[in-house]
Amino acid sequence: MSKVKTTYYCQNCGMQSVKWLGKCPSCGEWNTFAEEIVHKDKKKTNLIVNTEHIKLIHQISLNEEERYTTKDEELNRVLGGGIVPGSLILFGGEPGIGKSTLMLQTALQNNLKVLYVSGEESEQQILLRAKRISYQNKECYILNETVIQNLIPVIEQLKPQLVIIDSIQTLTTNVLESAPGSVSQVRECAAELMRVAKTSNIPFFIIGHITKDGSLAGPKVLEHMVDTVLQFEGDQHYLYRILRTTKNRFGSTNEIGIYEMQGSGLRQVSNPSEILLNQRDEAVSGVAIAAILEGNRPLMIETQALVAASAYATAQRSATGFDLRRLSMLLAVLEKKYGLKLYQKDVFVNIAGGLKIEDPATDLALAAAITSSNYDIPISQKVCFSAEVGLTGEIRPVNKIEQRISEAEKLGFEKIFISQNSFKNIHSKSYHIHIIGVNKMEEMFQKLFKP
Ligand code: TYD
Ligand code: MG
Repeated sequence: MSKVKTTYYCQNCGMQSVKWLGKCPSCGEWNTFAEEIVHKDKKKTNLIVNTEHIKLIHQISLNEEERYTTKDEELNRVLGGGIVPGSLILFGGEPGIGKSTLMLQTALQNNLKVLYVSGEESEQQILLRAKRISYQNKECYILNETVIQNLIPVIEQLKPQLVIIDSIQTLTTNVLESAPGSVSQVRECAAELMRVAKTSNIPFFIIGHITKDGSLAGPKVLEHMVDTVLQFEGDQHYLYRILRTTKNRFGSTNEIGIYEMQGSGLRQVSNPSEILLNQRDEAVSGVAIAAILEGNRPLMIETQALVAASAYATAQRSATGFDLRRLSMLLAVLEKKYGLKLYQKDVFVNIAGGLKIEDPATDLALAAAITSSNYDIPISQKVCFSAEVGLTGEIRPVNKIEQRISEAEKLGFEKIFISQNSFKNIHSKSYHIHIIGVNKMEEMFQKLFKP
C-alpha cells in the first residue's frame, strides 16, 4: 500500500512547507500555499556499489555529430547546432506569441518521425494551423492527450525521433490530485518526461506559458531540470519574434533567432538589419541608426525621437523598446553637458520594429536622434552610431566593435561614429566606411551637424 502524504506548495515559486503559511517566506507572496497530495511508492534502494561503471574522463567517447539539424537555421543556431538526442528543451513564451506555430513548423518541415502531443488544441485545430504552414513531413503524428501515464506507453511504442509537448501546463499525472498547471503537477510530469528522454534518447520540446510579467509561472520550477531553456519574445502586435536561450547545456546562450509572423507561419529572418531599417526617400529629423549586438549578431536598428513643446507643467517622457530610466539619464546628460533645454519639452523615443533593446551601444544614436528632433535637423541616412554615453558626457567604447562596423559597412553606411577609445584599437584603414572616433558629445555634434 502506498503511503499518502500531504505537503503545501507555494503556487508562485514552488516552495515546499509541511504546514500552511499565509505568506511565502521565499517569494513574499500572500495566500499562495495550496495543499497537495503526494504519493510516493518507496522502493527499497539497492545498495550494491558497482565500480565497473566508473570511467576515466578520457575513456568517455563523444558522439558530437549526433545532432538533428533542422531546416530552420535560426533554431539550429540558437540550440547550438541542432537538436541533441535525449535533451529536454523547455520552450517558454507569452500566450499567443507563436510557440505552437514554431513547434508545429519544426514538426512538419523536417523529415523526422515526430509525435506532437497537444492538450490545448483539437486535432482539427492543429490541421487548420498545419494547412497555413507548408509541410512535407509524412511522419508527423498528432496525439490529443493530457494524462502522462497514457502518453508514455505511446512514446515507448511509437519510438519517435522527436516529441513536442504542447503544453506542460495541460499535462497531468494521475498520481497527484492537484489541478493541471500547478507547480507539483508540472514538476512531476517533467520528471517523468525527463526519465523517458534520458532512457530512450528521444529529444523533447516542452512548451510552457509564461505570464505577462515575464516569469515562467509554473514552468519556472523546471528550469534547473531541463537541458535548454528557450524563450520566444516579441510584441504580439508587431511582426518580429526573437528566439533566445537563457540556458543551454549544449551551446552558448548568446545566440538569437529572428522570425517574422506571416499569414503562412513564421518566416526565418536571416538579414534582420535590412528589414528593420526603413527605406526613406529623404532624411527626416529625429531618426538615427544604431549598430547594436543582439547576442552575437550585429543588427542595425532605427531609433526615433520626438521632442515637442509640452502643454503641461510636467513634461512627459516615454520610451518604447528602451529603458525609461536610461532615457532620463541621457536627457540629463544632454541638458547638463550639451546645454540642450529639454525641461519644458515632451520627449518620446521609440525603437523601430517593436524590439526591446538593452545594448548600451544604442545610447549615442538615441542622443543624436533626440538632438536632431530638438533642432529639427535631419541626420543623413548613411550615418550610424555605436557607443555608450557616460554620466559625464564621455563617449564610451562597446564590445565587439569590429563586428558592428562590418555590418554597417555591409549595409552600405558611409559613416559610423564610435568612441575614440575603440577607434584606437582598430585598423580603420581596412574598412571602406568612414569611421569617426569621438570623446565627447559636443565633438560628435560638431562633426554631425556642422561639417
Ligand atoms: P500560437 O502559435 O497559437 O501561439 P502560442 O502557442 O504561443 O499561444 O500563435 C498565435 C498567433 O499567431 C495567432 O494570433 C495567429 C498568429 N498566426 C499567424 O499570424 N500566422 C500563422 O500562420 C499562424 C499559424 C498563426
Ligand atoms: Mg499554443
